[in-house]
Amino acid sequence: MLNYNGLSQRLLAADYAVRGRIVTRAQELEKQGRKITYCNIGNPHNFKQKPMTYVREVLSLLEYPDLLNKNIDNLFHSDSIKRAKYVLEQIPEGVGAYSASAGVGFVREAIAKFITRRDNVPANPERIILTDGASKAAQTVIHAIIKNPNDGIMLPIPQYPMYSASLTLAGGLSIGYYLDEENHWQLNEDILLDSYNTAKLNKLNPVAITVINPGNPTGAVLSYENIKMIINFARKYNMAILADEVYQENIYTKNAAFHSFAKVMHDMKVDDVTLFSFHSMSKGYFGECGHRSGYLEIRNLPDDVFAQFVKFQSINLCANVVGQVATYLMVTPPTPEDDSYTQYINEKNCILDDLREKSIILGNELNKIDGISVNIPEGAMYAFVKIQLPEIMKYQSVDVALDEIYCMELLEKTGICVVPGSGFGQMPNTLHFRTTFLPPKEQILEFVHALKLFHQEYTCQEKRI
Ligand SMILES: Cc1ncc(COP(=O)(O)O)c(C=O)c1O
Repeated sequence: MLNYNGLSQRLLAADYAVRGRIVTRAQELEKQGRKITYCNIGNPHNFKQKPMTYVREVLSLLEYPDLLNKNIDNLFHSDSIKRAKYVLEQIPEGVGAYSASAGVGFVREAIAKFITRRDNVPANPERIILTDGASKAAQTVIHAIIKNPNDGIMLPIPQYPMYSASLTLAGGLSIGYYLDEENHWQLNEDILLDSYNTAKLNKLNPVAITVINPGNPTGAVLSYENIKMIINFARKYNMAILADEVYQENIYTKNAAFHSFAKVMHDMKVDDVTLFSFHSMSKGYFGECGHRSGYLEIRNLPDDVFAQFVKFQSINLCANVVGQVATYLMVTPPTPEDDSYTQYINEKNCILDDLREKSIILGNELNKIDGISVNIPEGAMYAFVKIQLPEIMKYQSVDVALDEIYCMELLEKTGICVVPGSGFGQMPNTLHFRTTFLPPKEQILEFVHALKLFHQEYTCQEKRI
């Protein structure tokens, strides 16, 4: 029988805190009948966010095309029926057959048009690969560009741990750079340089830099100038850029706007930095995480190199085809002429307005608690919350991170499940946790109230020490 020691060291070393020990314990408690508020993961439908109707109408018809021969006019919007027929004209074999490795042609074309509409820049459908979610896109790139054991990728601290875990699996090294908490978690050129120089001193070879915008876990949105600085930095040190833009629709303040790396790079007329951009249907107002639907767009890459990325995808045959069509629907939402348009707009606004309101409530309420502070999230679905503990408590354990002990006790006492900051990385001598603001408003208010009482009690030294 295969035993633990028979497993790949890389697998054993890979760490993914978002579904780590705290979540396992939460599931155990739930089985014992405890009510758990899961704030650990950005999984909107888990919090009863409803799927967008037009998406599910078209997908249902594609899953069961015989419906198109029945009298369904009262059940489906006319544009959904029209679109399902259009998709079936493009792929007469339906969604149950493999597609071409890089994805269905008309979907790639629709994505290219979406990018052009969004950014006012040209986009080449031949440089787009459909993937099973953005995770698969990022993993493909990481596996493809890590060549030697000292190759590494610069990753933000804090970061979304899929990146460090995937790098570990690929045999590459994480080269962390701190995000600037004092400056709304923007990137800072001096810090980038410091991280790069330290890596070089240690004989590491940084081959790329990953940037997550809007940020997970920080909820920050990068300014145009910040993105320009990053592109110049990558260019100067001959690194590719991995731009994770899965939260591009999740922007909540008027002061912030989404700028894609593709757009900024085009404006700067930079054509010698390879850019890998990721997008997904898991986030935004769709929240279709379970459909595993996303894409990779690549710029500034020779044809023979791109062919190797397609070969990589061909080893998996292709991305799931329902997911590919879902991506098509994401990039071609209903237009004002469509029967389903009003409902689409109402559903979209309702989801985004609700998230906006909750991001503000969560941020403001947390900042009222003594010993807790947070940059109010401007985007994405998370807040990265700073916790302050009395000096004496910092020596509680040498084996388990202090924020993990804190989050475990928070779970045991209140049923709230959040992820310790150490799972994402953080500045030495700081402690954080990440929470989503996906639960309903009332639950967020209950969460903050319970956290306040917990934090007061937890930090009360007389009782604990
Ligand atoms: C920054 C970031 N990138 C990628 C993903 C994963 O996206 P997908 O579901 O498309 O694989 C997530 C999921 O939370 C994320 O936060």
